Amino acid sequence: MRVDYAEDADLEVERLADGWLAVAREWLSDAVSADIPEPNALVLATVDAAGHPASRTVLCKGLDSDGVVFYTNYGSDKALHLKHTPYASVTFPWIGIARQLTIRGAAEKVSEETTAEYFASRPRGSQLGAWASQQSRPVGARADLEQALEDVTKRFDGQDVPVPPNWGGFLVRPDTVEFWQGRTSRLHNRIRFTVATSTVERLQP
Ligand SMILES: Cc1cc2nc3c(=O)[nH]c(=O)nc-3n(C[C@H](O)[C@H](O)[C@H](O)COP(=O)(O)O)c2cc1C
Repeated sequence: MRVDYAEDADLEVERLADGWLAVAREWLSDAVSADIPEPNALVLATVDAAGHPASRTVLCKGLDSDGVVFYTNYGSDKALHLKHTPYASVTFPWIGIARQLTIRGAAEKVSEETTAEYFASRPRGSQLGAWASQQSRPVGARADLEQALEDVTKRFDGQDVPVPPNWGGFLVRPDTVEFWQGRTSRLHNRIRFTVATSTVERLQP
């Protein structure tokens, strides 16, 4: 279970002189090229009303200077957490290429137009599934979900599927962005970019 990492060039603080985005996009694109499974998957951490953390995987559907975007059900646990405490930490765990990227910052809903544009690009099955599932709420049996899907499939037969009222995107606006790169002897590279001050710091591994 011990892997020695050292395949690619060391990440240096100078690479982040112009900000965090270029390297973040480069690393995402490297993860895609490396054929690792679900390269845009990220682990989203939120806190509930009691201050207890919760984490789960979602898919990154936007990465630009504003931050990271993912889509979900606005009635789900994660969305309720973000309503109460609109702050998140997201981690891309690119284990297969010995890299990790963590972004922490305030989370807000994206505009309805942005959600509508993304929703329209989804396969019809996913659009219908979004209507059929009250995400994170209990359900008696799988058959109930299948019935709900059948019902919405009939309801929208022959029509475009509109965005469900309780569904949309969140944007996490970075306060800090930390790049981690595995190195030999556990002397890994960690470089943190702080957006408010454009500070770049190397951290001990
Ligand atoms: C690879 C992968 C990708 C996922 N992508 C999403 C996603 O983009 N949006 C989403 O709401 N849930 C996604 N899920 C499901 C979530 O991990 C989670 O089960 C669900 O959103 C409910 O979380 P919550 O109860 O904490 O709100 C994904 C799960 C996996 C394993």
